[in-house]
Amino acid sequence: LVQLSNRYLILPGMVDLHVHFRDWGLSHKETLEGGARAALAGGVVAVADMPNTSPHIRTAELYRKRVEQGSGLPILYKLHMGVPEKVAELDQARPRSVKIYPEDVARFGWQHVEKLAERCATLRCVLVFHCEDPAYFRNGERPPDAEVACVEKVRQIVHRTGARVHLTHITLPYTAEATRGWASVDATPHHLLLDVDNCKDPALCLVNPRLRTPEIRKRLLAALASGLIDIYATDHAPHTLEEKRSGNPPPGICSIDIALSLLLSLWKRGVVSLDDVVRLYSFRPSRLLGVDVDVARGLFTVVRLEEFEIRGSDFAGSCKFTPFEKFKAFGQVEATAVRGKIYFKTGETYSLQPPQ
Ligand code: NCD
Ligand code: ZN
Ligand code: ZN
Repeated sequence: LVQLSNRYLILPGMVDLHVHFRDWGLSHKETLEGGARAALAGGVVAVADMPNTSPHIRTAELYRKRVEQGSGLPILYKLHMGVPEKVAELDQARPRSVKIYPEDVARFGWQHVEKLAERCATLRCVLVFHCEDPAYFRNGERPPDAEVACVEKVRQIVHRTGARVHLTHITLPYTAEATRGWASVDATPHHLLLDVDNCKDPALCLVNPRLRTPEIRKRLLAALASGLIDIYATDHAPHTLEEKRSGNPPPGICSIDIALSLLLSLWKRGVVSLDDVVRLYSFRPSRLLGVDVDVARGLFTVVRLEEFEIRGSDFAGSCKFTPFEKFKAFGQVEATAVRGKIYFKTGETYSLQPPQ
């Protein structure tokens, strides 16, 4: 960490282990390029993309194709593989991580998940769970019980297989406590800062898992402050505004452009330290994904220590709306450096090669 006067801060580049860059059959929502622009605008140098694309990435062939496409982006691109129908597909793809959705559990059953866990224990992949047991879903509702029940199921699977497990976008302080010693966890900016009382727009605030009560949300924030949460990740999930304003809005919130600023606002409020910021949104996720993010390796972000008002219209990708609209945040990303280039907010790009 380098602080330049009281106005600028240089941090290692941020690493977001949960993003949806869409593209393919969903390119009307976002593209890989648009997602990468939004990441750079938010100080993020590496992402891990989710496999719920169209088609869903369940084969080694699709996995390779997508990774190949991502390798052309101006940021470091990683991908969580989707649950394959046949476990042997993992031997072909050799992914570092596999993402398990409640929809996968509903479709293939917990038995299949346990087989994946056995295979991953051998191949050393990480199982990344969207941990809500679909048996607890009731006519479109997804109560907190669904998270509690899933944690118990996953605990048993880890006990029996020894697989390495990460639970993404946890919403309950209970989950942070109950997983100590056998799983790592992350929390999103929206589950830490938004709740059913302070987020009122029914469409823009609709997300999986659901926002919780202020009481639960504040205890989740307290868990972050006390070091019980390992990683901070956005679940940046672009949809079009038309889809969000339709009679049947899809769940998902975009926040990669502002996630670092929201976290730095928690630093300003004294909730987390600057070391925590770097640990939560750079060091720990980079270790999980196996990327080496370091200022000295030219992967860094420059932040101006100043308050500003969040505006979706400033977002750099396709998704230009946010339930954080008009929120005051602290710490504007001025520039992000990756792969020998520095990208400024103004749109300028310079090569980091030494002058001839
Ligand atoms: C995700 C998406 O849009 O891909 N939406 C969300 O609300 N988090 C899918 C999901 O995680 O269910
Ligand atoms: Zn999810
Ligand atoms: Zn997601």
